[in-house]
Amino acid sequence: WRVLSVFALMALLLAGCGDPRLNALTPKGTAGDMQLDLITLSILIMLGVFAVVITIFVYVLIRYRKKKGVTREVKQVHGSTLLEIVWTVIPIILLAILAVPTVQTTFKLAAAQPKTEDALKIKVTGYQYWWEFEYLNANGKRFKTAQELHIPAGEKVYLEIHGKDVLHSFWVPALAGKIDVVPGRVNTMWIDAKQPGKYQGKCAELCGAGHALMDFKVYAHSKGDFDNWVAQQTTPYKPQTVAEKEGEKIFKQNCISCHANPNPKIKGPDLSKFGTRETIAGILSHNETNLKKWLEDPESVKPGARMPKINYLNDQEMKNLMEYLMKSK
Ligand code: CUA
Repeated sequence: WRVLSVFALMALLLAGCGDPRLNALTPKGTAGDMQLDLITLSILIMLGVFAVVITIFVYVLIRYRKKKGVTREVKQVHGSTLLEIVWTVIPIILLAILAVPTVQTTFKLAAAQPKTEDALKIKVTGYQYWWEFEYLNANGKRFKTAQELHIPAGEKVYLEIHGKDVLHSFWVPALAGKIDVVPGRVNTMWIDAKQPGKYQGKCAELCGAGHALMDFKVYAHSKGDFDNWVAQQTTPYKPQTVAEKEGEKIFKQNCISCHANPNPKIKGPDLSKFGTRETIAGILSHNETNLKKWLEDPESVKPGARMPKINYLNDQEMKNLMEYLMKSK
């Protein structure tokens, strides 16, 4: 019963992975499809090995159990060349069955890479504990955003993966496998989403206290919606109301040294067009209550966050700053 309850618990936990936005087993991208075949093959091999081992194990348990009335010591066996050869050769064969398609898929993925000169290119940089996305050639424009990666659906997008502090791993389970984020090294990959939709992204390498919350989202748009998004992101926001203008001043005094400085002491995400985002810090829903919570005590939201507490503004100043941020569309 104990064993059964452990299996039941595992099944329950796995059921939680059913969200198609975060599931490598129901891929929504070409690379994910190719990799799913490998996942399926390795699961089948593992199940085969499991079945054989368990069958032998149960057979031996029953067949050679201690029988009533038998007191003599059973025959002791040491070493068996034949058995040792068998259990060395079988894994070699199984590994070869896995290795051949893995290597083939690796080459297929490389061959399917979009031509860098035509493709939309995005520079992805992992920081503790957030993601920067710099569009290098979106409709001829170059701009930055953070935590939310927007791509055109049905198009292969070329990603340059950079790291600045420690190791991270960029992973959008529904679209493609992981890729390491290594400081001082540029890794490249491509992703596509076949259909418009929203896909969950994760950091997949333990990188510190905020690792589990180093989330991001991928939004795949129809071509027209993507073009509109690019146009919106590249049209500067001008504060309109008095509150927004006051908020802009507070922003310039308190935030800009990390959030819009080419050589900051602590690098923070680019916040232009913050008002168009769906999340705060990649994890909270985008509303004033959460913004206030984040500004006043970032570490209560994301442990290890390097942003200082903005808890020294008076109520009016805080209100203006939030007005400026929420309206920057
Ligand atoms: Cu970054 Cu884990």
